[in-house]
Amino acid sequence: MRSRLFVLLGSIALAACGGDDATSGDPDAPATGVTYYQDLKPIIDAKCLGCHVAGGIAPFELDTVDKVSEMAGVVIENVVAKTMPPWPVNADCNQYFGDRSLTAEQIALFQAWQRDGFQAGDPAHPGAPLQVETLRLSRVDQTLRMAAPYTPQTTTENPDEYRCFVIPWTAATTKYVTGFAAQPGNPKVVHHVIAFYAKPNEVAAYQQLDADEPGPGYRCFGGSGGPSRTWLGAWAPGSLGSDMPAGTGLQVEPGSAVILQMHYNVLQAGPEPDQTAIQFKLDDTVTKVATIQPWANPQWLGSQLMHIPPNAADTMHSFEFDATLATGGPFQIYSAGLHMHQLGTRIKATATTAGGVEQCLAQIDDWNFHWQGTYALRAPLTFNRGDKLKVECHWDNTIANQPIVGGQPRTPTDVYWGEGTGDEMCLGVFYIAPL
Ligand code: HEC
Repeated sequence: MRSRLFVLLGSIALAACGGDDATSGDPDAPATGVTYYQDLKPIIDAKCLGCHVAGGIAPFELDTVDKVSEMAGVVIENVVAKTMPPWPVNADCNQYFGDRSLTAEQIALFQAWQRDGFQAGDPAHPGAPLQVETLRLSRVDQTLRMAAPYTPQTTTENPDEYRCFVIPWTAATTKYVTGFAAQPGNPKVVHHVIAFYAKPNEVAAYQQLDADEPGPGYRCFGGSGGPSRTWLGAWAPGSLGSDMPAGTGLQVEPGSAVILQMHYNVLQAGPEPDQTAIQFKLDDTVTKVATIQPWANPQWLGSQLMHIPPNAADTMHSFEFDATLATGGPFQIYSAGLHMHQLGTRIKATATTAGGVEQCLAQIDDWNFHWQGTYALRAPLTFNRGDKLKVECHWDNTIANQPIVGGQPRTPTDVYWGEGTGDEMCLGVFYIAPL
């Protein structure tokens, strides 16, 4: 990439010196400077088409020179602002597998394309495809599917709907989930998927939630709607799934269930039916039994301690604790996810380990409830007795940051911890295994 940037800077200089020659020259002469085919197409193919293709979740396609040129202004704006591709985690915090973001050099190419006059270039000689690291599920041992298609409603959180479906686990013996992927039934309406684990003794409560509402599934928002906060996996557009870190897996008992939380968005396609499936790689044994720990201050649950007053632009709550007291011993964190609801503005999870060094696990500076993910650390972090884990959340409860409900911003009111759309959470979700 470095040599490419050098060429790029050179070509900007050339274009700048060229003066009027560039416009009065031979129209058939090969383009100088940055072009779509040579410079942008390889980046867009690798970094945008996971979503911006026909049938994808994004509202328009970016798969031809014409479509990209038509959207050029807004494309460059979003690329420079780093709102696209969606990768909200702060780049200085840590390094992650499957990083979707663009490098500074790639962003500079988009800007240079604009400066050089949005040239198409030569379709016969496109730039070499970009080598990107692609995580994928290496083997499928079990597929679970929603029992029936479901058509998201436009009357709930239009254009969004959060709905949970209870899917019985079919394996007859104890298994370990060592990989996870989702196959959205209708990628035009599926925004993201979280698979919660319901233990055998929790399944009846979920079946009751389902039975209490007409149609398949039941409304849920901040979680599974029931006791489980344990994830087996999560999926967002563009993901091909992945294996769990080598040697680790999540234990699943016979008689349990998966609670599939579907986030639908009907902005683009309208209310079309979906029947999503999830895929698991399973093993009978693993070296380390992992768990997904949703950690928050337990005192916040069912209390009014996590108070977010109305009309306050920056309310902060945080918690810090020695997580080895919860796990019973030293452990490693392999991935970190962060969770708030719609009033959240920024959130950060940090670890203070031996010697008092603070390390950033995940940090989101411009929280967007729509783009939640888990971030898999390239280097797992070891936690010993006495080390501290901290999560800090900020919310804006003024009128300007209210979600729009029925065409109007919601009226700011006192907000506390809870699962509902009007409640908030402050949660770190960590994939951990014993040392
Ligand atoms: C993971 C899926 C995904 C990827 C990858 C992705 N986009 Fe998007 N994009 C979306 C979705 C969904 C929207 C609709 C708005 C939203 O939900 O944030 C969108 C919206 C946009 C918009 C319109 C934003 C606005 O202001 O209205 C632009 C421009 C855009 N994307 C460009 C890009 C470019 C360029 C890339 C690659 C460099 C890219 N996107 C990669 C999913 C994606």
